[in-house]
Amino acid sequence: MAHPLLALLLLSSLPLHPHLFSSAADSISGDQSLSGNQTLTSNGGNFVLGFFPLGNSPKRYYIGIWYNTNKISILTPVWVANRGEPVLDPSSSVLKLSKDGNFILLNTSKSLIWSTNTNITSNSTIAVLLDSGNLVLRDGSDTSLVLWQSIDHPANTWLPGGKVGLNKLTGENQHLVSWRSAEDPSPGPFYLEIDPKGSSQYFILWNGTERYWFSGPWNEKTKIFSGVPEMTANFVYDFQYVNNASANYFTYTVNTGDIVSRFIMDYSGQIKQLTWVPASQNWILFWSQPRAQCEVYSLCGSFGSCNENKLPFCDCVKGFSKRSPKDWDLGDQSGGCVRNTPLLCGGNSSAGMEKDKFFQMDGVRLPAHPQSVNAAGSSECESACLSNCSCSAYSYSSECSLWFENLINIQEQYAGADQAGTLFLRLAASELPNSSGKKGGVIGAAIGAFLGLLALSAIIWLIIWRRRRRRMISASNAAADGALVAFRYSDLRRVTKNFSEKLGSGGFGSVYKGVLPDSNFIAVKKLLDFSQGEKQFRAEVSTIGTIQHINLIRLRGFSADRNGRCLVYEFMPNSSLDAHLFRGSKMVLDWGTRYQIAVGTARGLDYLHDKCRDCIIHCDIKPENILLDALFIPKVADFGLAKLMGRDLSRVLTTMRGTRGYLAPEWISGVAITAKADVYSYGMMLFEIISGCRNANHLEDNKSGFFPATAVKKLMNGDVLSLLDPRLEGDAEIVEVDRACKVAFWCIQDEEMSRPSMGHVVQMLEGMMEINMPPVPKSLQLYSGRQEGIVFFSDSSIDRSYQTQSTFTSSQVTSSKSTGSKD
Ligand SMILES: *[C@@H]1O[C@H](CO)[C@@H](O)[C@H](O)[C@H]1NC(C)=O
Ligand SMILES: *[C@@H]1O[C@H](CO)[C@@H](O)[C@H](O)[C@H]1NC(C)=O
Ligand SMILES: *[C@@H]1O[C@H](CO)[C@@H](O)[C@H](O)[C@H]1NC(C)=O
Ligand SMILES: *[C@@H]1O[C@H](CO)[C@@H](O)[C@H](O)[C@H]1NC(C)=O
Ligand SMILES: *[C@@H]1O[C@H](CO)[C@@H](O)[C@H](O)[C@H]1NC(C)=O
Ligand SMILES: *[C@@H]1O[C@H](CO)[C@@H](O)[C@H](O)[C@H]1NC(C)=O
Ligand SMILES: *[C@@H]1O[C@H](CO)[C@@H](O)[C@H](O)[C@H]1NC(C)=O
Ligand SMILES: *[C@@H]1O[C@H](CO)[C@@H](O)[C@H](O)[C@H]1NC(C)=O
Repeated sequence: MAHPLLALLLLSSLPLHPHLFSSAADSISGDQSLSGNQTLTSNGGNFVLGFFPLGNSPKRYYIGIWYNTNKISILTPVWVANRGEPVLDPSSSVLKLSKDGNFILLNTSKSLIWSTNTNITSNSTIAVLLDSGNLVLRDGSDTSLVLWQSIDHPANTWLPGGKVGLNKLTGENQHLVSWRSAEDPSPGPFYLEIDPKGSSQYFILWNGTERYWFSGPWNEKTKIFSGVPEMTANFVYDFQYVNNASANYFTYTVNTGDIVSRFIMDYSGQIKQLTWVPASQNWILFWSQPRAQCEVYSLCGSFGSCNENKLPFCDCVKGFSKRSPKDWDLGDQSGGCVRNTPLLCGGNSSAGMEKDKFFQMDGVRLPAHPQSVNAAGSSECESACLSNCSCSAYSYSSECSLWFENLINIQEQYAGADQAGTLFLRLAASELPNSSGKKGGVIGAAIGAFLGLLALSAIIWLIIWRRRRRRMISASNAAADGALVAFRYSDLRRVTKNFSEKLGSGGFGSVYKGVLPDSNFIAVKKLLDFSQGEKQFRAEVSTIGTIQHINLIRLRGFSADRNGRCLVYEFMPNSSLDAHLFRGSKMVLDWGTRYQIAVGTARGLDYLHDKCRDCIIHCDIKPENILLDALFIPKVADFGLAKLMGRDLSRVLTTMRGTRGYLAPEWISGVAITAKADVYSYGMMLFEIISGCRNANHLEDNKSGFFPATAVKKLMNGDVLSLLDPRLEGDAEIVEVDRACKVAFWCIQDEEMSRPSMGHVVQMLEGMMEINMPPVPKSLQLYSGRQEGIVFFSDSSIDRSYQTQSTFTSSQVTSSKSTGSKD
């Protein structure tokens, strides 16, 4: 197709076409084309178009648009042309204008791989990459005439200026479609679409059939979707809703010039907002929806099960294995799991095989699409399932539900206790442990042979064990003295029973329970990845080791082996604060204890920020990181790790599993993070200590809304007791609740300058400092308006306080008692 002479010229004689291959080229016209590593760069230098590789052996190449790597150092494709059809050799593949005017991609054997595929009447066209990341096909003689543009055909990324919505004239509903996995841009199972019935809300669907997420309707006054309070719309975006006879869509612009931000429909099934933070040279996740990963429909495929308390979230149910482990590793579990042992089913049971059995799974979210059948009781329900070969599970609770073929959407350790049930999973008899089988006799002899060997190794093992025990005991003695102990990795593996009892997991790795030979418990944090050399690691660890305060978790030791790196902490018998506040623990924390936890945490943070040698910013204050000892004295955990892991502060965030509303606004604007970011998170947590509920969760029952927004109004009306966790039944010191509320509001001020230091927080909570009525943070005015349909700051009392006290300074806080704090 291409003129052979021209192709030769294009490939070999750069000087003849300096305008095309110089970095300034932003368009293709006539017979020009793009191959290999040639690219187009938009006029202002923001975006680049060309071939980019994904995967290995073989590398697959795609035509895409990405942020210019001068500015965004990580190659981040925002649009892909040939999503499902990569080319293998870009140097012999060609992107060019075809005879009919379309923009096309041909592979090595000149087959058409991709085309703009539109009806073009003009006889000359030109393709231009705009500085907004939009690739436009224009009429060559009338360049204002747009024939096709990439922004109307988004892939998984919604860029500023793009539209995601419905063209009512053509009936086309433009979706944002996820990639299949981290290395496969072909259309995945999840997509975002606007309500095809014409309302202003977005849905996320799986396989075009199951809607599992709703944005909630758009509120034109407050510019926010009711289900996404995290958007804090007015600060960064200008969203615009268009709904008229021809279209129903949203579009947005980023109103602060320097911020690079995008939405993606991720292959995790979540819609995410990511912002580039130059200081950390990374994309920071600001929020994702649905918040809980397991809310994503069929995330783990058929016979997969999701678990919020485990990483990775997906696994196969008992008796099944991953169909494609390689895809699972890349985040694509859609292939699901396959049965290890076929069911006997209608097979020949007289051949000596046992009938299929059932494996009991308690406390699970039951799979989707049950079929109910009549059955008088549980055993009748069981036989109903056994009698049909394609029945794979049943559940009986007042009625009998059966599932046929695939099981989709199982969630284990399901928190929504009222919806959790018991599932009986049908498995071949040999999969279940208590089925002894009849093969035992044959291998009896072999076992006998092993016994001799075993006895021998037992003796050897005993010798090693005694030696190790001696070593561990001397290590724990050292730890008791307060010295930092260097453990061997292998010893830590043993005392944690091969890292079997998991206490929790965080951004840097999981924490396991262990028992030292002196029967003291320890918590061992197994670090995930580390970029530092051993020497630097030891230096950082010993710095953390010197930080000692009653309200900070104490580091007892570490392992810096090449086998693995661990941090060893004192063990906290009462787990973390979130377990007591949210996870329906039987014992409700009384108000006095809560207040002491609030004060203690503030003291710990104050120490980190101000009192120890180098100021340490924690960056991840949330109830999960406040541990409680036997006396419920709070201990802040996980501090100092960002530096230890050789990471920039803000990169910590990328490893967090979501923001859950503790993040200060300055994280998104990319300015330097100070200790005031911790103050903000502390304030958000303080609200949760008061209410006993996640701030954002209040939203989901659609009654009380975002908690701080409700709280501000109650505080103004002097009705703070109604904010209190209902489980306390009003049993609390009103003065303290009122104080805690006000402190929380001062902490969550939008402006860092307006927030108090942790030292001031301690003084205020201790009653050493009088607290003025805090102004209403701008972000809360939005939330409040959303709830009530009124603009909240029109309330004159708040208006006044907003004007008079825009910053928190010591001068505004009058000391009610002349002396400072007790410390
Ligand atoms: C482009 O590819 C050629 C070989 O195909 C290589 O010599 C050249 O260095 C590459 N240019 C860039 C900028 O990578
Ligand atoms: C080019 O694409 C066609 C159609 O997809 C395919 O059959 C052919 O193998 C491809 N050629 C090369 C060299 O990849
Ligand atoms: C292009 O034109 C042909 C013939 O007029 C028509 O059948 C086809 O639907 C048109 N395609 C598009 C994308 O408009
Ligand atoms: C395009 O068509 C117009 C008339 O239809 C003709 O005058 C012009 O020469 C054509 N241009 C090219 C590049 O073929
Ligand atoms: C996806 O939906 C189609 C129908 O739209 C259905 O045939 C197919 O089985 C579904 N895929 C899965 C994995 O259920
Ligand atoms: C619908 O609104 C868009 C954007 O404001 C506008 O371009 C378009 O002309 C409108 N269509 C009708 C039929 O009003
Ligand atoms: C079951 O197995 C027995 C013996 O192996 C055989 O005689 C009988 O025909 C089989 N029945 C079926 C239904 O396959
Ligand atoms: C098993 O159940 C499925 C679904 O209800 C039904 O379509 C099928 O006919 C049943 N098979 C037998 C053998 O009863």
